[in-house]
Amino acid sequence: MLIELLHNRDCPNAEATWSLLTEVADALAPDAERVRREVPTFKKALELEFPGSPTIRVDGRDLEGPLAPREPSLTARGYETGTGVPPRWLLEAALLRARPPAGVLFLCVANSARSQLGEGIARRLAPAQVRVLSAGSEPAPIRTETQKVLASMGIDASGHSSKSVDTIDPALVDTVITLCAEEACPLFLGKARRLHWGLPDPAGVEGTPVERLNAFFRTASELQRRLEVVWKPEPAAEDEAARADALRREVSAFYADAVAYGAGDGGAGPGSHGASCGSGGGSSGCCGSSSGCCSLGGTAGLAGYDARAFVKLPSGMRDTTFGCGDPVSMAELAPGQTVLDLGCGAGLDLLLAADQVGPAGRVIGVDMTPRMLEQARRNVDAAGFTNVELLQGTIEALPVEDASVDWVLSNCVINLSPEKPRVFAELARVLRPGGHVRVSDITAEDLPAWARNSLHLYASCVAGALPVQDFLDGLTTAGLEDARALSMHVYSATELESLLGTAPAATCDDGCADCDPQVGSTWQRRLIASVTGKIASVTFTARKPG
Ligand SMILES: C[S@@+](CC[C@H](N)C(=O)[O-])C[C@H]1O[C@@H](n2cnc3c(N)ncnc32)[C@H](O)[C@@H]1O
Repeated sequence: MLIELLHNRDCPNAEATWSLLTEVADALAPDAERVRREVPTFKKALELEFPGSPTIRVDGRDLEGPLAPREPSLTARGYETGTGVPPRWLLEAALLRARPPAGVLFLCVANSARSQLGEGIARRLAPAQVRVLSAGSEPAPIRTETQKVLASMGIDASGHSSKSVDTIDPALVDTVITLCAEEACPLFLGKARRLHWGLPDPAGVEGTPVERLNAFFRTASELQRRLEVVWKPEPAAEDEAARADALRREVSAFYADAVAYGAGDGGAGPGSHGASCGSGGGSSGCCGSSSGCCSLGGTAGLAGYDARAFVKLPSGMRDTTFGCGDPVSMAELAPGQTVLDLGCGAGLDLLLAADQVGPAGRVIGVDMTPRMLEQARRNVDAAGFTNVELLQGTIEALPVEDASVDWVLSNCVINLSPEKPRVFAELARVLRPGGHVRVSDITAEDLPAWARNSLHLYASCVAGALPVQDFLDGLTTAGLEDARALSMHVYSATELESLLGTAPAATCDDGCADCDPQVGSTWQRRLIASVTGKIASVTFTARKPG
């Protein structure tokens, strides 16, 4: 077993954490290798994917389990102890997880409440082969509140009985968890690892029946929280859908804020969420860079739109545009056709398409972010088009009929989907036989793992981007033919700088941080150096067999 403590330079909690870790490891895993690493700079933190100080990993797994994607940081991690030192039980539970018990005994005085709750909850969480027992100094009738609480958790305690510790065969137990708080716990004489999780006795609570029952619930939920660290499986496939939903919600919040900022009616804009696929907010876009976009300015320029296209469009359109290409100009739209834009945002491509398909044609924009659709509605109305429909929905489950559109367009959206195979399948489903795809998107080859795990880079259209070949394979696997890249623009370092905006700066509120005001720019410089040459804007074409 490898136990690592990573902490920030000068972290005031480091000594206390290391000494606690040493004490717990001596007791529960004396032969485990222990390593202490100081993180002296933000650069080092990035390399170690360090979520904050202190970080404890047991066999590479963070004490708190899998972490959501986030930027490494030099700031303190908060724990319930209020001191920045993890609670002892959390460390103990993490070591038990890494070296699981074969037989666990919960001990308290009467074996009627806490230890019975521990036994019931552990039985439910532990794998079937683990022996779970409980006992006390003296057997006593199991409290009715214990039974009620276990029953309400769906745990059948009908087979439970109250036992004296003397009746337990020491050979069956390798781990003992004592739960007494105020009282002296019974002594277990066998050889076993010992943990003490002193919890107040709910049976000692005086008050109404409801207050007493609540005390039992509190003890049960504390035990559940701790035992889940030991036995709860890592998120499995069935949680993937929930994870995808959570990521979509993050992305949607990001773009709601970006469009509000661009529209000039609020939103934190670049520097809080940072940029979108282009800068979040027009005025801070690519102008000033050498990207050659300044004839137009903002993200729209970097995407390659012709400034002349904007002449007829509502003013401010460019400031609420977050695309990375110009798929409409690469399509051959004809009057009367039906066009679907996946992730239409504030609607620039909808307007360009609406003009080309004319009043006899139909343009449908789908986006999951209500604030974006509001902006799109304003833009469509201001431009006076009557052939545009806006639908709220996700591109993984399009609210559009089978085989109903001639063209599927999309501009810098598919990279944001956590479920890309579903998007490709949907795209093929809604196309008419012989219908076409023109999708501009960001592609990324060989990104470092830390960049792939960054939420900021995900929302900025980089971390979720596919390599070109994977994008083509996705289209082909969905049943489309003649999938090709029509154009590719590999971003220069300067372009990436404007594309990615400012990374969220580390906060320095705990005395634990290396309060470097340059942290944001250090992060960005390192990021840009490591991804330059790997990120491109590509426009793809494909066709549904006729
Ligand atoms: C980078 S912006 C591009 C917007 C627009 N295509 C443009 O060129 O300005 C991404 C847009 O896709 C939307 N989006 C991202 N993921 C989505 C999903 N899974 N389903 C529907 N919309 C999504 C966001 O709400 C946002 O409006």
